[in-house]
Amino acid sequence: MGGAVTSGNKEFSGKTALITGGARNIGLAVARDLAARGASVAIADICKDLETVPYSLSTNDDLEKSVAELISSGVNAIGLTCDVRDENEVSQTVKRVIEEFGKLDILVNNAGVVSLFSIGQLSETAWNEVLDVCLKGSFFCCKYAIPYMIKQHYGKIVNISSVAGLRGLGLSVHYAAAKHVVNGLTKALAMEVADHNINVNAICPGTVESPMLEGLASQIDLDKDAYEHFSQGHLIQGQRITPQDIANAVRWLASDESRFLTGTIINVDAGWSARG
Ligand SMILES: NC(=O)c1ccc[n+]([C@@H]2O[C@H](COP(=O)([O-])OP(=O)(O)OC[C@H]3O[C@@H](n4cnc5c(N)ncnc54)[C@H](O)[C@@H]3O)[C@@H](O)[C@H]2O)c1
Repeated sequence: MGGAVTSGNKEFSGKTALITGGARNIGLAVARDLAARGASVAIADICKDLETVPYSLSTNDDLEKSVAELISSGVNAIGLTCDVRDENEVSQTVKRVIEEFGKLDILVNNAGVVSLFSIGQLSETAWNEVLDVCLKGSFFCCKYAIPYMIKQHYGKIVNISSVAGLRGLGLSVHYAAAKHVVNGLTKALAMEVADHNINVNAICPGTVESPMLEGLASQIDLDKDAYEHFSQGHLIQGQRITPQDIANAVRWLASDESRFLTGTIINVDAGWSARG
């Protein structure tokens, strides 16, 4: 998935960012990208597996390695173990970021999990795990970050949603429900905090190369390439969306170039949502 990015452009110099689910993949790509442009970054991750999620989540070792990689590229980085489903852990995490960096400018709500179940097979635990990570976790992080952003009269919040937040996908009513509501939360919160110079936007990725895809493939005993299977809706075929493609969009939404975007949902989905 690539190593640390280096960039002569330090547009985020003096800015600080908290990225949830930041120990790997999309979250780590975002952390590398913002850090390479001068931001101090905190990556928070659960570092344990969930009962109904059919693939391994990041470990403490992953988190430590990711932080070490960021630090070795010369940036200010910390790693925090945090389950975004737990209000107390989120509150402590945000507090730690403030203690460490003095402020919080950018929050990227990236932590997310998915599983595939038909409605009759969907247990309450599976429903709760997906909704609590994807939706309640974003609510808690916003709840504890926003008071600091209001004090600063500055903030950029980027929620990582999904194409599943725009349309129905098979075997995932829980994931689609969570991501649709993330988009609703984005719009409603944007209205609430606009007077405080806080922008709240969301990105809906299409299929992105990830351990998540491999886990889903094994859950349905898929015997062909997982990316190809799950990206059939893409209009642009033959090239794969990478975590860096999502990080590029996050960077723009976290920058002042997009200062008049708020409550906006940006689709980085190879045209999938254009199908309606
Ligand atoms: N990969 C895709 O195809 C795809 C497509 C659309 C949207 N997304 C969304 O992008 C985001 C990142 O996905 P990814 O592909 O990098 O997945 P990933 O599984 O590689 O990474 C997710 C990270 O979140 C962490 N995490 C999970 N539960 C957590 C919790 N309760 N608290 C804190 N951290 C937690 C995991 O340990 C992991 O490090 C998710 O919100 C996902 O729904 C992914």
